[in-house]
Amino acid sequence: MHKPDVAGFHDPRTGSIQYVVACPVTGKCAIIDPVLDFDEKSGSTATTNADRLLAHVEKHGLSIEWILDTHPHADHFSAAPYIKARTGAPTAIGEYVCQVQEIWRDIYNLPDLTCDGSQWDRLFRHGETLSIGEMNVRVMHSPGHTLASVTYVVGDAAFIHDTLFMPDSGSARADFPGGSATSLWHSIQDILSLPDDTRLFTGHDYRPGGRPALWHSSVAQQKAENPYLAGQSESDFVAQRETRDRTLPMPKLMLHALQVNIRGGELPPAEENGRRYLKIPLDALSGAVWGS
Ligand SMILES: [Fe+2]
Repeated sequence: MHKPDVAGFHDPRTGSIQYVVACPVTGKCAIIDPVLDFDEKSGSTATTNADRLLAHVEKHGLSIEWILDTHPHADHFSAAPYIKARTGAPTAIGEYVCQVQEIWRDIYNLPDLTCDGSQWDRLFRHGETLSIGEMNVRVMHSPGHTLASVTYVVGDAAFIHDTLFMPDSGSARADFPGGSATSLWHSIQDILSLPDDTRLFTGHDYRPGGRPALWHSSVAQQKAENPYLAGQSESDFVAQRETRDRTLPMPKLMLHALQVNIRGGELPPAEENGRRYLKIPLDALSGAVWGS
């Protein structure tokens, strides 16, 4: 079995982890979940994170075969189009992104949005495989956090995005439109059925207690140490997850990010003055946490 070379890049602003996953034999690689920087206060975008990934690729003499997203993110813009423009590599995501597009097309009222996933070069079905150099990648549908989420299993590594975080941080939330705590439980069980020494690479780390950012655990470690799993039944997990989710405010960039990410990361088209604008629906979502 191949052991891919994995480099993780933590974005402190969003807590996202971006990966460069390389075949040690051929130097071919995939980028997973690249971030396009966005400052909501000024409306500025930047490519600092994506350029770090490209600099790593160049420094190590790698060549990019795939630009993969695990799901349409609610906390950052995908930099997939930027990296594609720079490298020509194809973009891909799970096939159920089409259903996510439909949900958000209605919320944003974007009747012209094509909801067939054609914004990506390839859509993956559950169980489908692709290759990075000499390594096979298996795609597992892992719904729950979003209904389109997928896990990429590459040799002894799995990129599990927003299912489990580090063991001290529990699991991802499951209360976004199309989310389901029950589905998330089953997706987590699929991940935990991988060999115990499988390296698990998570999609976020929020540095609880101010510890350094971490993103690498194992199946055995998650089973033993994650309080959302150890000794928990499905109904325990679902009850705990749903209770917790009711206390969480929506991610501050969700309404900014989804309208971009359902377009495959393309920013909205420029208006006649050459400027692009985001669209924020009012009172479309319940679940505001107003505080007291
Ligand atoms: Fe996410």
